[in-house]
Amino acid sequence: MKPVRKAVLPVAGLGTRVLPGAKTTPKEMLNIVDRPILSYIIAEGRAAGIEHFIFVTGRGKQAIEDYFDHHIEMEAQLAAKGKTDILEAVLADLPKPGEMSFVRQMSPQGLGHAVWCARDIVGDEPFAVMLPDMLMHAERAPLAQAIDAYNQVGGNVVVVEPAPEGETNKYGIVALDGREGRLNRMTGMVEKPPLGTEPSNLFISGRYILQPEIFNLLSDQAKGAGGEIQLTDAMVRLMALEPFHALEYEGTTYDCGDKIGLLRANVAYALQHPELGQAARAAITALL
Ligand code: UTP
Repeated sequence: MKPVRKAVLPVAGLGTRVLPGAKTTPKEMLNIVDRPILSYIIAEGRAAGIEHFIFVTGRGKQAIEDYFDHHIEMEAQLAAKGKTDILEAVLADLPKPGEMSFVRQMSPQGLGHAVWCARDIVGDEPFAVMLPDMLMHAERAPLAQAIDAYNQVGGNVVVVEPAPEGETNKYGIVALDGREGRLNRMTGMVEKPPLGTEPSNLFISGRYILQPEIFNLLSDQAKGAGGEIQLTDAMVRLMALEPFHALEYEGTTYDCGDKIGLLRANVAYALQHPELGQAARAAITALL
């Protein structure tokens, strides 16, 4: 079985639900407490053993490439002033040479189209997809949990979790061949099913292990829900050829793609922050 070495991070969406905040700052760069969302995602990928991160970016997203590069003047100033803690924090997210690639999706035609744009850089090997607006907090990195499952069953693996009551119509929902333990064979999936028609309450929460055959299917994938080329639709076609498993991971997900999710993530991460946690608790309590 080929190992999972590469992760595709689609970051070319418009972030409509978090406008106007995401107008000039890509939504994936919005801060959670003291660092951009992408900083947490890269840490999760590294903890899962990912060797190469492939960003699918778009117009107005240059801040992402700049974040993962040196800022010569800032670093020189911090070093000159002896602010070594801050300098270390600034340098911590920098990639090793060649660890990151950037490819442009020239117009946001949907998640499936964004993933397809990474096909040449991924090549002929299994790969991870990490949706950067889904912040997933867990003791063992959620993507590492997915790779553990992949190493056990092979094929394709999607990370799932129970959707909040009445919200199954917001996500991709899986159908299972029985539900025993956390890792189950899938029989289907559907993007944003109307309430009452969902095949389960489990939604695909933003981490995938996919086989490279998905790219061929994406190349002629018709538009689906919302007039976009949906990754879920191509995965349904791949399921006719290869097994898919759904992993109910252990951890908590914060959907930072909308305003309340972003706020929840900020509060939760502030309360858990090793240095700021206590002060954050006091500040939040004082507001209630
Ligand atoms: P979302 O649907 O959550 O992102 O896609 P969005 O389109 O930016 O959100 P809204 O609905 O306008 O608020 C999940 C991830 O896929 C990326 C997004 O950047 C996000 O990180 N994406 C989505 C692309 O890269 N390209 C697309 O065409 C669509």
